[in-house]
Amino acid sequence: MKESWIKKGFVDEPIASNLNLVEEIKKLAREKNAVILAHYYQQSDIQDIADIIGDSLDLSRKAAETQADIILFAGVHFMAETAKILAPEKKVLIPEQNAGCSLADSCPPDLFEEFLQQHPDHLVVTYVNTSAAIKALSDICCTSTNALSIIKQIPEDQKIIFAPDRNLGNYINSMTGRDMLVWDGACHVHEEFSLEKILELKNEYPEAKIIAHPECQKPILIVSDFVGSTSALLRFASQDAATSYIVATESGILHQMRKASPAKTFIPAPPKDSTCACNDCSFMKLHTLKKIYLTLLHEWPEVTVEEDIRIRAEKPIRRMLEMS
Ligand code: 13P
Ligand code: SF4
Repeated sequence: MKESWIKKGFVDEPIASNLNLVEEIKKLAREKNAVILAHYYQQSDIQDIADIIGDSLDLSRKAAETQADIILFAGVHFMAETAKILAPEKKVLIPEQNAGCSLADSCPPDLFEEFLQQHPDHLVVTYVNTSAAIKALSDICCTSTNALSIIKQIPEDQKIIFAPDRNLGNYINSMTGRDMLVWDGACHVHEEFSLEKILELKNEYPEAKIIAHPECQKPILIVSDFVGSTSALLRFASQDAATSYIVATESGILHQMRKASPAKTFIPAPPKDSTCACNDCSFMKLHTLKKIYLTLLHEWPEVTVEEDIRIRAEKPIRRMLEMS
């Protein structure tokens, strides 16, 4: 690999215009005993070549179980980092190192540690959308799929800090009647949905059910017919009797919804300040087939976690897996 091809965070090597990327990726993955994991928010062509597609909980389970030597993670950095924490002996690759997460960034470890010191009698539950350093400060991790069930398993008199997503934390408080201390973080994608535009769509398609991810703001959750994690929304949409849905989460999931229920109509909920009809996570969408190919070829960029942080971060993730 030429030095000049290494860009900030990914390899940018010229490739033949007639190269069949799908075939080449599959060939390399076979030769190197690599597994390709992709989150539901990836572009459709990446979802279609992945060995395993899932939400953040499914993917961390699969990373913990895989027999592959290499895990190529088409998702954001905290997800690939979680895979490395659970499978330290594997090589974990991410096609774009800049695939971050605004929610994870809204919880800096130094400020969080200070906050924890002010509340020493609280159990610390953090959403997996955090850095390894935050996980290392936590007692239990959760994802949007298991957050409600994990909180319900904690004795009622136990005080809890929940971080970093304020919308998910407040939603759990409202569903359980608990009074968790909620960190003031948010996801730029899920906070961007426009209630006004969603209600206009509902007017246009009165039969459509509104379904939303719990990272959305409260007014959107209130008008929704169903609230759930990415995979819960997918399951609901395929099992429910309605035939059309306004979907308030990252638009990548619509690909699997349409595949599972080709006869149904899925309308992406629009964001506030954009003429765009749907809402994409710019970090998730940094990955491309070309970057996946070059990452497998050069086995770079690799995700690493300092061993002392990894050991501390593994405990709350394992606890989550046991409680799920
Ligand atoms: P899931 O837990 O539903 O996969 O969500 C991950 C995420 O990044 C939501 O924005
Ligand atoms: Fe993070 Fe939001 Fe993107 Fe999910 S959609 S990865 S929470 S920025």
